[in-house]
Amino acid sequence: MLLVAGTIFAQTWRLGAPPMPSNRRMRHAISHLVAMELARANRTGARVLDLGSGWGGLARRLAAEHPEIPVVGVERALIPLLWSVLMQRLRGPANARFVYRDVLTPPAECGPAQAGPTVLVAYLAPDHMARLGRALLERTGPNETVLVSAAFALHGYEPDRVETLTDLYRTRVYLYRGL
Ligand SMILES: C[S@@+](CC[C@H](N)C(=O)[O-])C[C@H]1O[C@@H](n2cnc3c(N)ncnc32)[C@H](O)[C@@H]1O
Repeated sequence: MLLVAGTIFAQTWRLGAPPMPSNRRMRHAISHLVAMELARANRTGARVLDLGSGWGGLARRLAAEHPEIPVVGVERALIPLLWSVLMQRLRGPANARFVYRDVLTPPAECGPAQAGPTVLVAYLAPDHMARLGRALLERTGPNETVLVSAAFALHGYEPDRVETLTDLYRTRVYLYRGL
């Protein structure tokens, strides 16, 4: 038990964000925005990536809500990742999978080859959003990527929509299109 707790603590220190699951209100807002964007987009070839998927609950929920869309959880903390893989094997859904990758890994290297739009989901930390913003600026290709970010804005970009939750912290959920 101590070893598990120590490993989680050390990886949180190294990665700069704890494997803290998004709360119910955040998940509701994320789920709503993802559904809205998938409805706007051509769903053929679309996929969803949860950047920093933690224990996998959000990615598995999104996968259950969109059974025809592959949902990939991208995670580098080993214990939450193994838990996510185990839960997916035991409970599904079949269109969810989890990979050991950095959140800055280009989406094409995280999931099955897709021809359509990618919806990124993030609940990370300010430093991650600054690095993600820089990585997205350097990326070339069709600007079909959408980002839904809970609590932290993407540096260098104006959000297309901001939802303010009715929780204690008035948490914001940001939507960016055309990245
Ligand atoms: C606050 S949790 C969010 C979990 C999940 N997305 C949710 O909403 O329930 C952030 C996760 O990002 C992971 N993370 C942080 N930096 C990362 C990196 N560079 N590459 C991959 N995962 C990272 C952490 O290990 C942590 O599990």
